[in-house]
This record gives sequence, structure tokens and C-alpha cells, in this order.
Amino acid sequence: MSEAGGPLVVLVGPMGVGKSTVGAILAERLGVAYRDTDADIVEAEGRPIAEIFVDEGEAHFRELERQAVRAALAEHTGVLALGGGAVLDDGTRASLAPLPVVCLSMNVTEAIRRVGLNTARPLLAVNPRQQWKQLMEARRHLYAEVADAIVETDDRTPEEVAQAVLDAL
Ligand code: S3P
Repeated sequence: MSEAGGPLVVLVGPMGVGKSTVGAILAERLGVAYRDTDADIVEAEGRPIAEIFVDEGEAHFRELERQAVRAALAEHTGVLALGGGAVLDDGTRASLAPLPVVCLSMNVTEAIRRVGLNTARPLLAVNPRQQWKQLMEARRHLYAEVADAIVETDDRTPEEVAQAVLDAL
């Protein structure tokens, strides 16, 4: 758990892996608040993430995300979940270094089962299986760089994953 101030635990990992579901369970078990930077962005912007991507492009979304992550890391002391691409930012990865970070992971078949053809996730809108694999190729080392532990989710319920996260801390 965190000794450096900031969130008690930060969840990272690819979209659809269950960060929000597991994060909410974890927060309840720990008796702390749950926060999610995707939700912060949607609330601040007053529109869905897919719309931000379409209207202003990914670079603009990444800038909003960078700011949302910075604010959350400074303000939040509970469980924090980051969007799947937040680790792309060098500054974000550096800020995560002193914090307890757990990466949730799953295999590609499980990813497609969970995310499916969900158009709310603009980066998987064309060919989900291939795009998910490409994203993981590009990001696997970034997740590994920031994570103190990697917790597999494939054959586990969200409650079991939450317990595995607690065990890993
Ligand atoms: C993204 C993941 C999404 C959201 C956006 C981009 C990504 O968050 O931030 O669609 O680049 O992996 P979730 O991981 O919460 O789905």
C-alpha cells in the first residue's frame, strides 16, 4: 500500500479488463473512495470519450487524460483506475513510480469476449481482435514498467481478482 501519499492503489491495464468493476470492489473492501480518470474526463467534458476521439482526435484526448491523471494522483487517496492508454505518457509513468500499481491482464480471446464490438471504445472499432493485439504489442512493456504486480483475470470473477490484488499489495 502507498507510503508516499496519493492513491492507496492504482489499477492499470488494457480496456475491458475490468479495472472499474474490480476497482469499485477493492474500494469497498478497503473502505475508501473509488475514482476513475475516464469518468473524470467524461464528467468534465460533458460528453462520451468516443465523441472526444471523433471530434478532436486521440492527441487531444491524451492531453485531457494527462491532466486528469495528474489531478487524480494529486488529490485522490483511495483506489484509482486509469484508462488503458494512460501509461503511454512518459510523465504519467514517472508519477506512478513511487505508488502501488497493479496491472490487470487477460488474453486476447477473453478481451474480445469482454469488449466485443463496443463502439464506445474507439480504438477497437474497426477490427477488435487485431487492434487489441496491436495495442498490447505496443503497451505490454509500459504496463510492466509501471506495475508492481500483474494480476491475471482470465478465469476469475471480479471478486476473486479484487482479492488477488489485495494479496499482491
Ligand atoms: C483507451 C482506453 C479507454 C479510454 C479510451 C482509450 C486506450 O479506457 O481511455 O477509449 O487507449 O486503451 P478503459 O481502459 O477504461 O476502457
